[in-house]
Amino acid sequence: MTAPKRLRVGVAGLGVVGGGLLDLAARKDGQLAQAIEIVGVSARSRSRARSVDISGLPWFDSPSDLAALEGLDVLVELMGGSDGPAKHAVETALRRGVAVVTANKALLAEHGAELATLAEQNRAALRYEAAVAGGVPVIKVLREGLSANQVTAVAGVLNGTCNYILTRMEASGASFGDVLADAQRLGYAEADPTFDVGGFDAGHKLSILAALCFGGAPSFRAVRIEGISALEPVDIAAARDLGRRIKLVGRARLVDDRLEQVVRPELLARDHPLAGLEGALNAVMIDAAPVGRLTLVGPGAGAGPTASAVAADLIDLAHGGVRPVFASAHSRFVSRPVADEGGQGRFYVRLRVKDRPGVIAAVSDVLAHHGVSIETFSQKAVEDASRVPIVLTTQAVAEKELRTALAEIAGLEAVVELPCLIKIDA
Ligand SMILES: NC(=O)c1ccc[n+]([C@@H]2O[C@H](COP(=O)([O-])OP(=O)(O)OC[C@H]3O[C@@H](n4cnc5c(N)ncnc54)[C@H](OP(=O)(O)O)[C@@H]3O)[C@@H](O)[C@H]2O)c1
Repeated sequence: MTAPKRLRVGVAGLGVVGGGLLDLAARKDGQLAQAIEIVGVSARSRSRARSVDISGLPWFDSPSDLAALEGLDVLVELMGGSDGPAKHAVETALRRGVAVVTANKALLAEHGAELATLAEQNRAALRYEAAVAGGVPVIKVLREGLSANQVTAVAGVLNGTCNYILTRMEASGASFGDVLADAQRLGYAEADPTFDVGGFDAGHKLSILAALCFGGAPSFRAVRIEGISALEPVDIAAARDLGRRIKLVGRARLVDDRLEQVVRPELLARDHPLAGLEGALNAVMIDAAPVGRLTLVGPGAGAGPTASAVAADLIDLAHGGVRPVFASAHSRFVSRPVADEGGQGRFYVRLRVKDRPGVIAAVSDVLAHHGVSIETFSQKAVEDASRVPIVLTTQAVAEKELRTALAEIAGLEAVVELPCLIKIDA
């Protein structure tokens, strides 16, 4: 396996996601830095303060001029907007056979068919992992992991702002307006929140998912959309009384060969895979044959998660679609020493001992000798043959030390079987 080709990349848009991508690219030991060389950047304002130093990078006032740069391999479009400069720059790149990586769901949802056609005509890749559910690699799962499956339905909580607002309304009993104002103060909602709370952003993402699941191009205009702004505290409380939670859910499926795409608030049973989602997380649930049901959950927005998805597309392109068997080509395999056993943690221990005086004291002595502190201790009912199970939990202890103590305990004459040790999740 040869090292990947280092791609010459232009980044148009240096805001939340573009800044996150430059941050990631600046980590010299990372896979992204090995895969790409940034040969130009573009944004609206050259003088605006940025989280990353761009003074050493060639600047382009026009993103389309960047897309037209001689020798460019990939244009990364992170400006946003379904029309205007983003669309023009992407079209310019594709027409020249230059690959495009974008996080722009509005552009794909509105113009997916024409852009796909342009990409195919010019044999240029068009990648968009970051456009749906941010850091959750759902596009890769659908395109690659599930490529032999027939998807029967896809559903998702696809807008972190809405989920944050609903979660806060539930926890605080506050009104939609008050929680929205808070969310805006904290940066979870835009100054103009219509796109998010009106369900349109979720609609864009759903139309892209539906295109992948059921064939055809994204058909955003055909999505039935209802947002969350009409919801009141009384609805949230009533849902709780019914043992349910309200979530903004996007669903797509085929009904008699017709495509149904709906975004709207739903009352989900508490054990539904999408119901437990807290805060700004996103989730996508896929029903497919023969795999069954799959639910992917993770951060749907933010600089790090979204840049992670953009970077994955870039690294894929650098490998020309042929990935190493493991994380890197075998010539770059790293040989690492094996980690010590366990580390610190709390543990559950079950012992079976003979039912007679002094045994518990003997066990406690061994544990104390090895510095193991007992948190809870209980002796269960005596079983036949006068054996008695003892169950204890420890305070935080080095696993290695506990295992040494248990090996000693197992050797006590009154202990009738090997101790059972289970880690307690922190
Ligand atoms: N933010 C997220 O968490 C997230 C998650 C998933 C997908 N996305 C998508 O990623 C894209 C970027 O989002 P973002 O949050 O990073 O946006 P943002 O913070 O508003 O940044 C937009 C960037 O584009 C530049 N820009 C805007 N219009 C331009 C123009 N006409 N010419 C040149 N540059 C222009 C801006 O320049 P200035 O900096 O000079 O103003 C800014 O650098 C959008 O399509 C969005 O839907 C975002």
